Amino acid sequence: GGVTTLDAGYKNTGSCESEITFLDGEKGILRYRGYSIEELAEKADFLEVSYLLIFGELPTAEQLDKFHSDIKKNSVVDDDIRKIVDSFPKFAHPMGVLSSLTSALTAFNPSSVNVDSEADMYNAIVKILGKFPVLVAWTMRKKQGLPLDYGDNSLDYGENILKMMFKQPNQDYHQNKIILNALNKLLILHADHEQNCSTSTVRIVGSSHAGLFASLSAGISALWGPLHGGANQAVLEMLEAIKQDGGDTKKYMAKAKDKTDPFRLMGFGHRVYKNFDPRAKIIKKAADEVLGDLGVKDPILEIAKGLEQEALNDPYFVERKLYPNVDFYSGIIYRAMGIPTDMFTVMFALGRLPGWIAQWREMRLRKEPIGRPRQLYIGKTERSFVFIDKR
Ligand code: CMC
Repeated sequence: GGVTTLDAGYKNTGSCESEITFLDGEKGILRYRGYSIEELAEKADFLEVSYLLIFGELPTAEQLDKFHSDIKKNSVVDDDIRKIVDSFPKFAHPMGVLSSLTSALTAFNPSSVNVDSEADMYNAIVKILGKFPVLVAWTMRKKQGLPLDYGDNSLDYGENILKMMFKQPNQDYHQNKIILNALNKLLILHADHEQNCSTSTVRIVGSSHAGLFASLSAGISALWGPLHGGANQAVLEMLEAIKQDGGDTKKYMAKAKDKTDPFRLMGFGHRVYKNFDPRAKIIKKAADEVLGDLGVKDPILEIAKGLEQEALNDPYFVERKLYPNVDFYSGIIYRAMGIPTDMFTVMFALGRLPGWIAQWREMRLRKEPIGRPRQLYIGKTERSFVFIDKR
């Protein structure tokens, strides 16, 4: 009952109570289960952070070992999925492929659909954590015409991801520590962000008791959009376009401010942060370090820094509290790591996976009701049907 109030975009509507992620957009604070994002990005390992997000506490060495070993036991993807990968055209966007493959996993793992106990949930969780990196690697390799192999379970979770993505046929694979550390940091920074568009999607699909993989597949579709995770690809394409156009950042600043032009400065602005996005600060520093360590000089980084300086000093951006967000500098690091531009949002999904899982699990354990927003009807009032020959 009660009166329905309109809140388009749910700008001020809380959809749930949650113990997972704390975010203060005014102060620029982000914490997972009470631990600051700055400290986790510096000191933790992605699999540890995944455990923390999902189960609420940092794991002991023994707990982490068991978790990783259960994930490894589930790291084989049905060979028929490979045929599905093969049947996609090469020009398919990786996010569409990834969401389809994640949904297809449901068909091959029917036991993961109806989860009635915590044990069922755990099994579904280790299954997807084992199989998702394989799907990510296959999605990228298919486009590059590389063989679709399985991982190497003697490696750490992150190392295995890189090897699956980058191993070339008939060549030894050499782990690059700089790239491994950069990946670890990026995955941690993307791991959760409370009730954003994709996470709300996962919770709302899951609230109908659709299975975990189906809920995640919906989340991946939500993340794909350029206003959400797709912004990381859009940022790099924008920076490339500015470079091609002679590097005139002022011209693009003017376009972003022009209300008759749909162009937005991609990687700027955030629904919740009205101060610096703390993740953007860490990523900017990491971009400098990673490019320095790898000895890469990328003119795109200079354009990005120039654009940021102009925006931070421009009344339009200042008045609207538009600061660089997580996506502004991440693509520059992904590019230095050798990841193709259209795979950037897939990397975001890889990082966000434990957050989506944690939020889905919390929603199920709390036995939340089905998500079902109301509306304010503004259409026609009652009228009578008119037969077609009378219209
Ligand atoms: N460039 C130019 N103007 C902007 C931008 C931008 N990037 N972002 C917001 N504005 C303006 C907007 O036009 C509006 O102006 P006015 O008040 O004159 O109409 C005002 O700022 C408020 O924007 P809004 O669209 O009402 O704010 P929102 O909370 O609905 O949207 C956003 C947030 C992130 C979708 C938006 O800032 C945006 O489109 N940014 C660019 C895309 C992007 O970088 N997305 C990644 C977000 S962070 C990671 C993630 O979620 O995946």
